[in-house]
Amino acid sequence: MNISIIGTGYVGLVSGTCLAEFGMNVTCIDNNSEKIKNLNDGIIPIYEPGLESLVKKNINEERIKFVTNLSDGIKNSEAIFIAVGTPSRIKDGHADLSFVFKAAEEIANCLNGYTVIVNKSTVPVGTGKKVFDIIKKKNKSVEFDVASNPEFLREGSAINDFMRPDRVVIGCESLRAKKILSEVYRPLYLLETPILFTKRETAELIKYAANSFLATKITFINEIADLCEKVGANVSDVSIGIGLDGRIGKKFLHPGPGYGGSCFPKDTLALVKTAHDYNSQLGLVEHVVRSNDLRKKNNINLIKKASVNKLNGKKITILGLTFKPNTDDMRDSPSLILIPKLLDEGCSISAYDPEGLESAKKVFDDKRISWFDETYSAMVDSDILVILTEWNQFRALDFKKVKRLLKTPTLVDFRNIYNPKEMKEIGFNYFSIGRPEELFL
Ligand SMILES: NC(=O)c1ccc[n+]([C@@H]2O[C@H](COP(=O)([O-])OP(=O)(O)OC[C@H]3O[C@@H](n4cnc5c(N)ncnc54)[C@H](O)[C@@H]3O)[C@@H](O)[C@H]2O)c1
Repeated sequence: MNISIIGTGYVGLVSGTCLAEFGMNVTCIDNNSEKIKNLNDGIIPIYEPGLESLVKKNINEERIKFVTNLSDGIKNSEAIFIAVGTPSRIKDGHADLSFVFKAAEEIANCLNGYTVIVNKSTVPVGTGKKVFDIIKKKNKSVEFDVASNPEFLREGSAINDFMRPDRVVIGCESLRAKKILSEVYRPLYLLETPILFTKRETAELIKYAANSFLATKITFINEIADLCEKVGANVSDVSIGIGLDGRIGKKFLHPGPGYGGSCFPKDTLALVKTAHDYNSQLGLVEHVVRSNDLRKKNNINLIKKASVNKLNGKKITILGLTFKPNTDDMRDSPSLILIPKLLDEGCSISAYDPEGLESAKKVFDDKRISWFDETYSAMVDSDILVILTEWNQFRALDFKKVKRLLKTPTLVDFRNIYNPKEMKEIGFNYFSIGRPEELFL
């Protein structure tokens, strides 16, 4: 089966590689010629565990290729997936669909036989219809369908998520399109993956509803953590206590510095905007967006507390810059708000991230930030150590060594990795989320 994918980012590259691994002939298309050149040279543009070897294997076995030219790329494709970015539009927070529409126009110019065009990008309800209209207007004679197939993979575990998904959602009503998409996902039938066929609009909304629900769970436990600090309760126990209830479930109940990444912030905002457009109430998600934004702005308060309100002139080590571990993605990461605030307060920063350093350096151009390529050297002579992202290598630090390196043994742990009692016992001033110090005196 011949498939093409427009957009070779986190979603396009992973989806294309996994579909090639399933045995399909995949052409990945991107208008970023440097990215395509690198891929053809075996250089992978993103960090995603397991991706590099899988891309190389499928290049060698000639099931995947990378091109910039769309008309060559989509030739003979039975399905064309659109996997371009849909960032927040700066002026109003709506999803910016310009990349999707541009791809649709380019497709329209080149289609010459029946094809299913599949929106894999996260797009607001009604976008599939708009894509259909764009293509129809430009190319009246060709037969085609437009389907929605939202992607649920998570950065950091993207390959497993694509190959063993909880479900596949396909929004389309044409039997011809259904047949082709069933064939694309046939390898998953063996794993008994639920494949949910819906109306196109329903599939579009499922993606936003899923992300907004998960963002709500995170925000809920973050707000409960704040309350725990005020009433002297332990949020870790609250998470376990409620998560063991099968109706609630344990996942996404870890408090932290607020959600970030390329999906939750923009998707919650876009859903709110869609609700406004349709004069529909979505106050819960509106609150989630506000609460999370505020949380990211307030993260500095915990570090202020650890400095006894004397941040000016302090050297702060930040471990973890990406929005979560196992990715180099900096989009909407809490570090993007925290670090400038610390600099404004007169701090200098020593920063380390296992995979995100290069992306972070592109975002921050400030001489007051020193970059390190290893965990411990980033701590030398710092006043406060901050764990912002829970990479595995930060989970079992050698605290004897850490204590020797830091100027003062102070740790602000935004991910609640460590046990407050044990940290106290080994002589650290330890600050975490929703676990007030008096519980561990
Ligand atoms: N990143 C995730 O974890 C994730 C998960 C699920 C869904 N999504 C959704 O998938 C979509 C893609 O996200 P991403 O993170 O992969 O984006 P990305 O920014 O990493 O990649 C998008 C790619 O599309 C390319 N592109 C843009 N316009 C093009 C065009 N006209 N022709 C060819 N290439 C073009 C860009 O050069 C870029 O390489 C978004 O809608 C996002 O919300 C992302």
